[in-house]
Amino acid sequence: TEYETILVEQRGRVGWITLNRPQALNALNSRVAEEVTAAATAFDEDAGVGAIVVTGSEKAFAAGADIKEMEGMTASDMLSTDHFGAWSDFAAVRTPVVAAVSGFALGGGCELAMMCDIILAADTAKFGQPEINLGVIPGMGGTQRLVRAVGYYKAAELILSGRMMGAEEAERAGLVSRVVPASDLLDEAGKLAETIASKSLPSVYAAKAALDAAMETTLSAGLDHEKKAFAALFDTVDQKEGMSAFREKRAPDFQHR
Ligand code: HXC
Repeated sequence: TEYETILVEQRGRVGWITLNRPQALNALNSRVAEEVTAAATAFDEDAGVGAIVVTGSEKAFAAGADIKEMEGMTASDMLSTDHFGAWSDFAAVRTPVVAAVSGFALGGGCELAMMCDIILAADTAKFGQPEINLGVIPGMGGTQRLVRAVGYYKAAELILSGRMMGAEEAERAGLVSRVVPASDLLDEAGKLAETIASKSLPSVYAAKAALDAAMETTLSAGLDHEKKAFAALFDTVDQKEGMSAFREKRAPDFQHR
């Protein structure tokens, strides 16, 4: 497939998506939304891919939705074109997605990172929801996912003031899974994604879906989801393999089924 705004590559069992609009600090226009979603969906449908990495450049993961594209739009344009709709398909992929964030992750960029399952940050990363400075509010999930990630009061301060926070603060707040030196970011993201991709795919899908349930639902509904998903994995080839490998003191040879 020919992409205009992203670079796409498969290395082993890991799919890589690199945002590539350097002239606009990877601002997320509708083309980027379509292309990232198409690439992630194609990886998701490929059983040879067990994890996806989404990254940007050293200077910017993504500086937000494309302000120049949005500027002239009306409310009815926004609603009738479902301007950010493609991103909900991205957020729905079954395969775990690691966001490898260096530099700015602002507005839609921070929201894109929060659609991923793990956020690895370079020590240079800066997160924020500056939409309030533009006379709008987050529109790709920021008000909802940031509250779940960092709690109400931290999220409210960031969203209402538009202030940016650095990688260390973001890690302390719970938005970032781990901070690494900028020069190690892609290596660390690759290693982490390879580790995930080496596990049994059905168990990885089940773990992601159960984690999603934790974000979506009540404790009792989430526990019920987990109980059923846990039981269902006992019908996989890989559960027998994983447990017999443990008993035989050897590495498992997962078949991803
Ligand atoms: C369109 C953008 C952009 C954006 C940067 N650029 N961010 N274009 N949309 N979100 C463009 C600039 O216009 C400029 O192009 C080029 O990228 C380089 O940016 P500079 O501003 O010159 O770089 P710098 O001085 O280093 O400042 C970096 C920055 C600043 C602090 C990140 O660019 C910035 O504040 N960007 C906007 C951040 C933002 O408000 N994001 C939220 C967007 S709203 P030219 O052609 O001039 O060189 C949003 C809503 C999401 O995300 C939900 C939907 C409603």
